[in-house]
Amino acid sequence: MNILGIETSCDETAAAVVKDGAEVLSNVVYTQIPLHQPYGGVVPELASRAHVEKIREVIGAAMAGQNVDAVAVTYGPGLSPALLVGLNAAKGLARALGVPLIAINHIEAHLHTPFLYDSGSPKVPPPEPDVPYLGLAISGGHTNWIDMERYGTYRTIGQTLDDAAGEAFDKAAKLLGLGYPGGPVVDRIAREYGCANLIAFPKGRPREGVSALAGLPASLCVSFSGLKTALLRYVESHPDIEVPQVVASYQEAIVQAVADRTRSALKLRDYRALIVGGGVSLNSRLRAVLKAVCAEAHVELKLALPKYCGDNGAMVAALAYYRQNLAGEKAMRLDAAPSLEIG
Ligand code: KG4
Ligand code: ZN
Repeated sequence: MNILGIETSCDETAAAVVKDGAEVLSNVVYTQIPLHQPYGGVVPELASRAHVEKIREVIGAAMAGQNVDAVAVTYGPGLSPALLVGLNAAKGLARALGVPLIAINHIEAHLHTPFLYDSGSPKVPPPEPDVPYLGLAISGGHTNWIDMERYGTYRTIGQTLDDAAGEAFDKAAKLLGLGYPGGPVVDRIAREYGCANLIAFPKGRPREGVSALAGLPASLCVSFSGLKTALLRYVESHPDIEVPQVVASYQEAIVQAVADRTRSALKLRDYRALIVGGGVSLNSRLRAVLKAVCAEAHVELKLALPKYCGDNGAMVAALAYYRQNLAGEKAMRLDAAPSLEIG
């Protein structure tokens, strides 16, 4: 079954055709990063206008020479005017082609990315049915630990109480004048600096019992807002900072916070694997540390190919093969859901 996936939740206009939830037949991503760079973050109105300008071309390129049996689209979470562009295009196309529409949650789609492989490359085994997986969705908008009792069921068991990990990277880069998005540049500078002589930044552990936990255990939650404040204070009180040292230390605080919560979550069940998805899963230090955490816990680590870590249509098309709870006329009636939760 070939599914066309369309993704416009943030600053990438993307479409892809994926066979049977795994084999990527085409994948087209048009990134708006240069458009938003001067503003140091995504400007929703600019994003939606750019999606409108590019969507036909991107979908056309993804569909060239492909048969399509269904159309899948991200309907949330994300920026409302941006989501609407993809959703409307997908509804129109599904009607025109006479194929079903399948609506997909963006975060759940990120968690499917480790199962994607390129056409002509070695196959990646599909998710096993009826075994538990731990998911870590880590992106510019989310940092969630998700218990999947079996593949395709989602329950958030831990999360950030404030900023997402990607946001923490982006805000630090902005503060230090390193540009947007911050993650890739922080990653590169920290990699060049190494892990010695680090400044001790807070590791984001929330206090037990605070109301923001909303019933979740503190051991599985993080708070990155204190880290950002600590960085600001450090920069203000040290006029001669060594930027690479600061950047490497800040990244290490984020990575160790994520590693610590992941270690705790892995103890909850006999998980088949840790599935990691989202833009921050590109971070080289995070990838290395999670590898060690999983080795120690004797749990398989499932990471996506770098090109499927950021936003793309392939993850939407692939998950749609497994998750068709919002399909057909049900999906046709859906509106964009900017604050859609996972599950
Ligand atoms: O998944 P994504 O493309 O979009 C959202 O759904 O948010 O993630 C974007 C986020 C940005 O905050 C960006 O700074 C971060 O992923 N990111 C990274 C790296 N590459 C991208 N963070 C840390 N290290 C990286 N190498
Ligand atoms: Zn994303």
